Amino acid sequence: MSSKKICCRLAILVFLATAFSSFAQTPQRDAPFRGQPVRSSLADPAIEQKVNALLKQMTLEEKVGQLVQYSVGTATGPGTGRTGYSEMIAGGQVGALFNVENVQQVNRFQHDAVEKSRLHIPLLIGLDVIHGYRTTMPVPLALASTWDPPIVERAARIAAQEASADGVRWTFSPMVDITRDPRWGRIIEGAGEDPYLGSAMARAYVRGYQGKSLAAADSIAACPKHYVGYGAAEAGRDYNTTEISEHTLREFYFPPFYAALDEGSATIMSAFNTLNGVPASANAFTLTQILRKEWRFPGLVDSDWTSLGELVAHGIANDGKTAAEKAINAGVDMDMESNLYHEHLAELVKSGKVSQGTLDEAVRRALRVKFALGLFEKPYTDESRKNNGALPAESLEIARTAAQRSLVLLKNDQVTGHSVLPLGQGLQKVALIGPLADDAGNMAGSWAGRAEQGDAITLKASLTQKLGAANVKYAKGGDIKNATDAQITEAVAAANDADVVILALGEDAGTMTGEAGSRAHLDLPGRQQELLEKVAATGKPTVLILFSGRPLILPWAFQHVPAVLVAWFPGVQAGPALVNTLFGETPPTGKLVVSWPHAMGQIPLYYNALSTGRPAPKTALTNVPLNGEDKYVSRYVDEQNGPQFPFGYGLTYTQFSFTKPDISAAHLSARKLNEELRKSAGSGKTALTVTASVTNTGKVAAEEVVQLYVGLRGTSVEEPVRALKAFQRVPLAAGETKKVTFDLGSEAFAFWNIQNELEIEPSKANIWVSPDSASGEAVEFEIGE
Ligand code: NOJ
Repeated sequence: MSSKKICCRLAILVFLATAFSSFAQTPQRDAPFRGQPVRSSLADPAIEQKVNALLKQMTLEEKVGQLVQYSVGTATGPGTGRTGYSEMIAGGQVGALFNVENVQQVNRFQHDAVEKSRLHIPLLIGLDVIHGYRTTMPVPLALASTWDPPIVERAARIAAQEASADGVRWTFSPMVDITRDPRWGRIIEGAGEDPYLGSAMARAYVRGYQGKSLAAADSIAACPKHYVGYGAAEAGRDYNTTEISEHTLREFYFPPFYAALDEGSATIMSAFNTLNGVPASANAFTLTQILRKEWRFPGLVDSDWTSLGELVAHGIANDGKTAAEKAINAGVDMDMESNLYHEHLAELVKSGKVSQGTLDEAVRRALRVKFALGLFEKPYTDESRKNNGALPAESLEIARTAAQRSLVLLKNDQVTGHSVLPLGQGLQKVALIGPLADDAGNMAGSWAGRAEQGDAITLKASLTQKLGAANVKYAKGGDIKNATDAQITEAVAAANDADVVILALGEDAGTMTGEAGSRAHLDLPGRQQELLEKVAATGKPTVLILFSGRPLILPWAFQHVPAVLVAWFPGVQAGPALVNTLFGETPPTGKLVVSWPHAMGQIPLYYNALSTGRPAPKTALTNVPLNGEDKYVSRYVDEQNGPQFPFGYGLTYTQFSFTKPDISAAHLSARKLNEELRKSAGSGKTALTVTASVTNTGKVAAEEVVQLYVGLRGTSVEEPVRALKAFQRVPLAAGETKKVTFDLGSEAFAFWNIQNELEIEPSKANIWVSPDSASGEAVEFEIGE
């Protein structure tokens, strides 16, 4: 490497280290007590004045037009095949478009709206910018596995810059659905099973997308989705029914939405699923009672794709007109692709089934977003902003850093006296085997519509660059979904001829993950399990790299393969990130954000569960003997209770030890904590300082994600045995000890009690500071009256 390049790399590393390491504890107001409004830049009197002035000039039809949204270009759902958008836009019949092909087409449509329509109202142009635009970042589940909100914010900022340069000012992201079921394909799009971590990630995305001001040309409006409960689809089958109590909604499913809106998100998307018998896109409890009355969200509710039309299939409307009526009256402002507002809304208002006030309010929300984005002043995108050349070094650095931090090392056993990973620098011959070793397309994961061919670097390309072609024996070993005997035989021969084997196995992102990508079998598809077993039988030290959008159930692999690294789908910098990690330049530091099951029958499996009345010894998730005196406890007779790997788990190339935490007070007062919670909405004074010493007892420097969990007992409703309340990424040199300090606010002890109010109650509290959700020694203290 030239000295100039080294300098540049160092500068970027220093910049990254100072800007993004050790995530500072920002108090989160993610469990608001009733009536605690979200903070929103849309609630601005200057904007309101303009909105009202414009509203006065609008005809009924023009108002309806602002609530109509169509997909043009490549559809991301069942296409409607509609044409003639320009004419409709010029006639004031369209408020928003998405899936527009490029900036030139955006500007042409914007011209129709601004120059030809009577009131010159610009269009809102959206797209699913889910994990990067052209610079494809790791998939969201992987980004969450970094436990590093600042890097997620940077990734979202880059996405916003690239997307806005192509005319997109609104993204349907982040997906903040809490997910406890890896069968659900869309688990890949979210941040996993925990509301605290999910909220931290939600905020990071919104900050990154919306930047300092929505009005900046490189900001895009966020749209947390899918409101609400979609991730709890029964049996993990996409679009399926959900049944979630109000308590569980408030405690687990609402917080990441609240967090995204409180961070200023301008919009939100309603979901497909039925929630407690009422489809989420016609659910007045969630859309009006919670969102508008309790949270006082002033922004736009967009429906999901044809979810208004689907109210008929759900069976709560017998025709499109009734569906439109139910949706708008429940609180859905904009109709994505169903065409029902376009067809029926004016008539519904004329007949009094929908009030003028309801219509006006929905239009106001759409206009607020357009004013906040500065679209009235600057409707067009400067076409010269788009980068048609190579991806810039800084974007690639962020993509690579994010990918490196997202890799989760599940297993790293010793073979002939030392751990398989990191691979030795003097390594001679590597056999690289598997359908995902050289599959650039799959590195992008699902929802990567603007990824460009040629940008992604595969593991094979990077490994060959590192070791030289002569030292990498590549055998594909078949496709993801099938293989021939000859391909498997060739792979086994390559393994036999090598010092070390790297197996790159997993799922096909496009057909097995994401929307409509639910799976009933979470194994390796095709003949990959057979390939794995035959290659492992060679006895060569083997590293299994899993490319997947979810935990896969692979008990054989976890028993027999010495090293297993989860890569998820790492994005454009897949190869460099993996090679840096395999050879120890950047030790893996990702941690699971979902519990990894042993068996299908354990699902749904999540760490923040309640205790049963008959917990198995220690905790309900502890492994128990299958016979003997513990028969009548909550457990399976043929499987452990606990996961294969718990939430928060991930190894690295060193070890850390943790001391039992110290606390600043042995006794807290519930009354005082409640006063503080009400006064400052949980963003105020420190209620308790918790410290623990963490030591890097190994030989290499690495970062540890130090996690703090709270468990409450003696409360009016049962609370999880332990729940994440804070975390920090802590860099530690070999042999170094650091005192890690957490300043907990009152909100860390608040929960939704039996009256469904956010309160702190007298209780016994336990606090763990630990490397994952299943270990650590708790310190106990009292929350008194
Ligand atoms: C349907 C998906 O559920 C949603 O996540 C996405 O944003 C829309 N289609 C638009 O493509």
